Amino acid sequence: MIQIAILGFGVVGSGTAEVLTENKKLITERCGEEVSIKYILDLRDFPDHPLGNRVVHDINVILSDPEVVLVAEMMGGSHPAYEFTKAALEAGKHVVTSNKEVVANFGAELLSLAGRVGVSYLFEASVGGGIPIIRPMQTDLASNQILSVSGILNGTTNFILTKMKREGAAFSDALKEAQKNGYAEANPTADVEGLDAARKIVILAALAYGVSISPDSISTEGITRITSDHTATADKLGGAVKLIGHTERIRGKIYAAVSPYFVPASNPISHVDDVFNGILVDTDMLGRALFYGAGAGKLPTASAVVADIIDILSHRTAERRLPKWKRAEPADLADTADYACRRCYLFDGCPKCAEKAKKALGTEDCTFITDTKFAVISPVMTARDAALAIEQSGLTPIFVLPVLD
Ligand code: HSE
Repeated sequence: MIQIAILGFGVVGSGTAEVLTENKKLITERCGEEVSIKYILDLRDFPDHPLGNRVVHDINVILSDPEVVLVAEMMGGSHPAYEFTKAALEAGKHVVTSNKEVVANFGAELLSLAGRVGVSYLFEASVGGGIPIIRPMQTDLASNQILSVSGILNGTTNFILTKMKREGAAFSDALKEAQKNGYAEANPTADVEGLDAARKIVILAALAYGVSISPDSISTEGITRITSDHTATADKLGGAVKLIGHTERIRGKIYAAVSPYFVPASNPISHVDDVFNGILVDTDMLGRALFYGAGAGKLPTASAVVADIIDILSHRTAERRLPKWKRAEPADLADTADYACRRCYLFDGCPKCAEKAKKALGTEDCTFITDTKFAVISPVMTARDAALAIEQSGLTPIFVLPVLD
């Protein structure tokens, strides 16, 4: 019998217990021994839950029990999750987590600590919910240079955007439904303002480039400014507005950002709807690979947590090479003005204004969305050149969205 502890018995924590119970037979076979939840750490009690008698309120009970070999941290938030993770690693326990906030902010330090102690720190569930993305980037794509990673990384906002597009649902109603389904963060501002996606893209950037960037230091915009102008334009052009986390190297420096994009129908990401996430990894040898699946929710996310538990418990004697992440310095980060892509602009105006906008942006790609509103798609330009072209034209777009080709 292998004893483990769960920290945090919310949506994902209770889902992890459910996966371990439901699939006990196959998990026992894969680990070589039965996995038993000895403790559940939470502020609350769960008297009606079959595992209610495992609940403890003091982390030291877990840290000081030599029988506990692995801790699954699903508390959410940075504190005290970071302190508890550090203490568990220092106590020689393996740690798995779904906590993207902790991995994004403290991953470099915790991985280095785990390496020194000789235990594992795995976080498959921190990005893409149940989708395998962390392990494939570390193993299956290891022979490739990563050219870019672009993805829908937040299930809540994708669910909201899909509801708004398909059913004309109000933003607040769609958010309430996402909360009811257990997709949203405790404070959904992190979802709708793009902070959750920012944490996830910096984790993917660290896996791709070995440099850990603070999520607070990247340009982040959520979906709260999306209006019917955006969705009507995307519909007319044949595509969708999606919240995208993107990272790439620009002249050796790392660019990472989160913002709404116009995604044309030719890009498979434009068809990723509801709570699903889709992550496109572009590499030098394989080319593009798309990772797709349930990006949030109790059992999908818990399935990734349990996959990490099985990975560790079935390879306990093997030495694991954990990634080494260097903390980003300002010189590692690209200037956002150097980010080059096509851009979709919506303007108010007549055919004469449309000619002016086309000339300013050096394109013939112009479509009237209504009698008085037209969209122009620029060629690939840096943000700096695009801003200059618009300034010199004297035109003021209703919106501008980068295009994900
Ligand atoms: N709130 C997150 C989301 C949960 O909606 O994607 C999964 O990380």
